[in-house]
Amino acid sequence: MKSFRRRLLGTLLVWIGMMLAGLFIVVLQLLPIYEGAENKSDIWLILFLTFLSALLLSAIVGNRVINVNIKPVENATETALELAKGNYLARATESNAQESVELSRTINVLARNLQEITAVRVMEQERLKTLIENMGSALIMIDRQGAVSLVNKPFLDEFNLKPEAILGKFYKEIQVPNVVENFIENVFMTETHSRAQIEFVLRSKQRNLNVYGAPVIGEHERWLGIVIVFQDITELKRLEQIRKDFVANVSHELRTPVTSIKGFSETLLDGAYKDTDTLLSFLDIVHTESNRLEMLINDLLDLSNVEQSGFEVNAQPTDMKAVIKRAIEMIQPKINEKSIQLQLEIQPVIVLGDPNRLIQVMMNLLINAVTYSSNYTEITIRLFTKEDQAVIQVADQGIGIESSEISRLFERFYRVDRARSRNSGGTGLGLSIVKHLIEAHHGQVEVDSTVGVGTTFTICLPIAS
Ligand SMILES: Nc1ncnc2c1ncn2[C@@H]1O[C@H](COP(=O)(O)OP(=O)(O)OP(=O)(O)O)[C@@H](O)[C@H]1O
Ligand SMILES: [Mg+2]
Repeated sequence: MKSFRRRLLGTLLVWIGMMLAGLFIVVLQLLPIYEGAENKSDIWLILFLTFLSALLLSAIVGNRVINVNIKPVENATETALELAKGNYLARATESNAQESVELSRTINVLARNLQEITAVRVMEQERLKTLIENMGSALIMIDRQGAVSLVNKPFLDEFNLKPEAILGKFYKEIQVPNVVENFIENVFMTETHSRAQIEFVLRSKQRNLNVYGAPVIGEHERWLGIVIVFQDITELKRLEQIRKDFVANVSHELRTPVTSIKGFSETLLDGAYKDTDTLLSFLDIVHTESNRLEMLINDLLDLSNVEQSGFEVNAQPTDMKAVIKRAIEMIQPKINEKSIQLQLEIQPVIVLGDPNRLIQVMMNLLINAVTYSSNYTEITIRLFTKEDQAVIQVADQGIGIESSEISRLFERFYRVDRARSRNSGGTGLGLSIVKHLIEAHHGQVEVDSTVGVGTTFTICLPIAS
């Protein structure tokens, strides 16, 4: 509105100026003629036409002046206002008028620079945000007043929190375990770097975290707050525990037969060999224990072999029914010993696998089923196809396994009841070997068990196409 009024005023001024100038000239020219003329109305007509022409001419000239001089300035002003509002896409029209072209160009260069700077800033912010969100560690920033100024998604996930529940809150108000709060407080109070390993139980799960805290220092060495980074090492700790257990278990398993062999052979050497009965009975024990030692070493070697990352089975189309038959033959004496009834529900299926390795798997499962079942019970072996997989099940009516134990069953040396399992002669390596072999076949193994009712092991294997 303002600009319209300004334009109208400008136009009027130009008109009036030009009209006055024109009239002044015409009157000067006509004055002597008018005084001597007979028909004065012609003179008035000429005067009127001249006035009209002057009006038209002044309108054209006025408009041109406005277009060339005022419009570009207005356009530049509007563009500058848009830029001030943050619309860096706004551009001024670059006219041909010498006076305004420089202004429009400069404003456009300014706009382009601002647009570039903003784009770079947005990109950097996005990059930083992506980095913080995807750094794989939980992060929290606390400002100098102790309020939470930034958290990333891993932090919210780690402590099961919602952003609105913590952003802007005082750090003591957020719901984190005490050890975490103490660590934050320590870094906040001392304003120094700190590192620690903390553990706590959250939602009944053990968590182990590596925590690093540091002060945030801004310009002129100004302290702005603190930043804390949490790295989840729960899995690492679990693996470390498994490794420690493994070493302890191997040493224990090896020491038992070795102690026995050593003890009995020393007794024999001390003179017991003279009594033939004692000699034979001790030698029998030494023989049994060395067999156990050999079995353990073989299992360990086997496991270490299948655990190698490059381990591959010699997969070929294999008649799974024949594999099951062969495994049953091998353990038939054990089945007979316990008078166990064997039920077979078998369809012919050709799987893609290594026949010897699959016999080994089936034997391990069948020996377990027999070992952990009472006399006169039943073991069912099923073989069928489901979608594009072969399914093999070994179901017993044995002692069953507690659901809390199932997740650890495939760990090396893991036995549900150590004392009882040792009496059964096992070492706890069987199921780890089974799991690794089945995974090497690109299959899966699962357990379903009810204490006192029985256990079913289910294996899925790819079918040979
Ligand atoms: N069918 C089953 N019923 C009940 N418990 C079982 C069954 N199969 C396995 N388990 C439990 O799982 C544990 C681990 O089995 P795994 O076969 O790995 O070891 P193992 O039988 O003790 O020894 P081995 O290395 O000689 O096989 C067993 O000690 C037993 O407690
Ligand atoms: Mg076993």
